[in-house]
Amino acid sequence: MAQRGGFSNRLGFVLAAAGSAVGLGNIWKFPFEVGQGGGAAFVAMYLLFCFILAFPVMVTEIAIGRKTQLNPAGAYTALGYRKWRGLGVLGILCGTLILSYYNVVAGWAFGYFVEMILGNFDIGTRFGEFTRDITTVGGYAIVFMLFTIFIVSRGVSGGIEKAAKILMPTLIAMIIGLVIYAMTLPNAMKGIEFYLVPDFSEINLKTIRSALGQAFFSLSLGMGAIITYGSYVDKNENIVASAALITLADVGIAFLAGLMLFPFVFSQGLDTNGGAGLIFITLPGVFESLGGHLGVIIGGAFFLLLSFAALTSTVSLLEVPVSYAVDEHRVERKKAVLLVAVIVFIIGIPSLMANGYSKILTNFITYIGAESPTDFMTFVGHIANDTFLPVGGILITMFAAYVWKKENLNRELEAGYPNFKGSFAEKYVDLGIRIICPLVLSILVIMSVLETFFGVELF
Ligand code: PHE
Repeated sequence: MAQRGGFSNRLGFVLAAAGSAVGLGNIWKFPFEVGQGGGAAFVAMYLLFCFILAFPVMVTEIAIGRKTQLNPAGAYTALGYRKWRGLGVLGILCGTLILSYYNVVAGWAFGYFVEMILGNFDIGTRFGEFTRDITTVGGYAIVFMLFTIFIVSRGVSGGIEKAAKILMPTLIAMIIGLVIYAMTLPNAMKGIEFYLVPDFSEINLKTIRSALGQAFFSLSLGMGAIITYGSYVDKNENIVASAALITLADVGIAFLAGLMLFPFVFSQGLDTNGGAGLIFITLPGVFESLGGHLGVIIGGAFFLLLSFAALTSTVSLLEVPVSYAVDEHRVERKKAVLLVAVIVFIIGIPSLMANGYSKILTNFITYIGAESPTDFMTFVGHIANDTFLPVGGILITMFAAYVWKKENLNRELEAGYPNFKGSFAEKYVDLGIRIICPLVLSILVIMSVLETFFGVELF
């Protein structure tokens, strides 16, 4: 039987949704994307995309979720548009794909927690060796999946809420502490300059694609995670205010993570272009510099909290297909969790092997005109995060504006926000879903697909 819980109060929902949003995307992915995307120009684009293109999608997703109280596929049917079900299913598949590799990286984070506790600070210099060791990283991936299974099978409000309430603020405090420490190091200012002084000549279609994908990925949008969480929200909730709070928290934490990382990278003379290994290569040296026990404690705590942040995201990723199986196919919750988790793990095996273990998967594809090959895990990210999430954003805003219609969306948004009509927020969301999101997202997605996958040089 379907078992749906609710969040205990407003803060519960905001924290859980922020828990979904804040994760490896902010602390692992954002800094390395900034590093590869040329620094501050990427940061500027990312911020713009979050507020202009992603925010209206967030509002729409929460509204659809709350209105229908269903998973993404069931939601469209419940609104009376069965034909749109496919959009929900697409999101569910995309989430499954994202979780398959996200869990691998979450396993790395947890593995680093263990290494820090053991005082193995040289793990930063052995990152490649670490990810290549399939039994170790495979083991960590299994352990991490078990954590996720444990929480999701207990239902959405019990586990997630309690953990998020304590751990998120601790993580933020810790990052702020590290930002302050970072500022005291030699060459810190070079890092800040790279991060905050934009050189707009760095912008090209690839960086636009990555910044756009990063905005959607980091805010958990475009695939239905926020529809699913929205389905647990109370009618008195002000959706627009919650969406604003979640967006600000998520963007704020990503911003702090960058502020922490780049001074560290420059002070150690490392390469900003370190890719998926950037934080894993950089941070152990930082913790070592704190000295002995302090390094072990801070380093251990950091990777433990990072693992928790990842966990609140893997939980939301797993919850999407699970709520689909529970609502639509009447699968018992615990069974659904196990079934989906096993499938996700199997799909994730090639990503697990794509970081040094298998040569073919590590050098999976060389895009036309690219200098070096892209590994399978990154390739999955290009398809799922950078392409399908924005496509989900295009379709969901078009659905809300032209199929479900503004009056219905507005009615949902007014519940919990009586003055919504005539407000600036109404105009912002309306313009976003009717014109800006469908149009601008379509142009950006088409251009970046042409360039990335077909090598068409557009500019
Ligand atoms: N937003 C999460 C992060 O930044 C990842 C995620 C993407 C979670 C999509 C759910 C849906 O880590």
